[in-house]
Amino acid sequence: MVNSMLVKWVDSKPYTRNLIPGESIYWEVHRKINGIDYRYWDPKRSKLAAFLVCKGKTFPFDVKTSVLYLGAANGTTVSHISDMTPAGKIFAVEVAKNPFRELLALAEKRGNIIPILEDANHPEIYERLVGQVDIMYQDISQRNQTEIFIRNSRMLKSGGVGYLMLKARCIDVTASPIKMFEECRKDIENAGFKILEMVRLDPYEKDHAAFVVSK
Ligand SMILES: C[S@@+](CC[C@H](N)C(=O)[O-])C[C@H]1O[C@@H](n2cnc3c(N)ncnc32)[C@H](O)[C@@H]1O
Repeated sequence: MVNSMLVKWVDSKPYTRNLIPGESIYWEVHRKINGIDYRYWDPKRSKLAAFLVCKGKTFPFDVKTSVLYLGAANGTTVSHISDMTPAGKIFAVEVAKNPFRELLALAEKRGNIIPILEDANHPEIYERLVGQVDIMYQDISQRNQTEIFIRNSRMLKSGGVGYLMLKARCIDVTASPIKMFEECRKDIENAGFKILEMVRLDPYEKDHAAFVVSK
């Protein structure tokens, strides 16, 4: 269930309450509702928004939630999680220097974002800084994306929720996405997770699925 204090739906479109009223991150549309500034959460720009628009149900975010975010890029989705978790923490891991610069600038304005310039293949480097989190979210288009998710999941609390945004074509361009999703499902279950739901993100993201799991 989506907490309506965190995500407002206007004309079937999601908006988050802007942590820094008046500020835009990616030229997104703003709307004033009862004098409060909300930012449009574009499902074409964010797979977590696409998950919600595609009727994903599991959404345990709260104002105090701690999140390990792998593949943060320049912080588009991170910024909306930051809106929803004003008293929480988002450990945002990104390996590429260019998007990281923008992520850093975002974190300077938003105190709940902790940017980490590292390779998610090496969680041992940032594990002590992160500790245990309520939610782990991964959006990394790499062949070994499931393996990266499993390796980082030691930072997810027992009972915590993980989101793996899986790009099928990234694992094998020749195999059918359905086969890739099935393989991912097996790998995740074999690693001891319970799959709560699997939501296809088409048409917002072709050949992508959101796997939502609990530990
Ligand atoms: C699809 S983009 C992420 C978009 C972002 N999640 C959003 O919604 O705003 C994938 C990002 O993963 C990063 N990435 C790829 N491999 C990585 C790795 N091993 N460790 C950390 N980040 C990685 C890429 O540099 C890229 O910025």
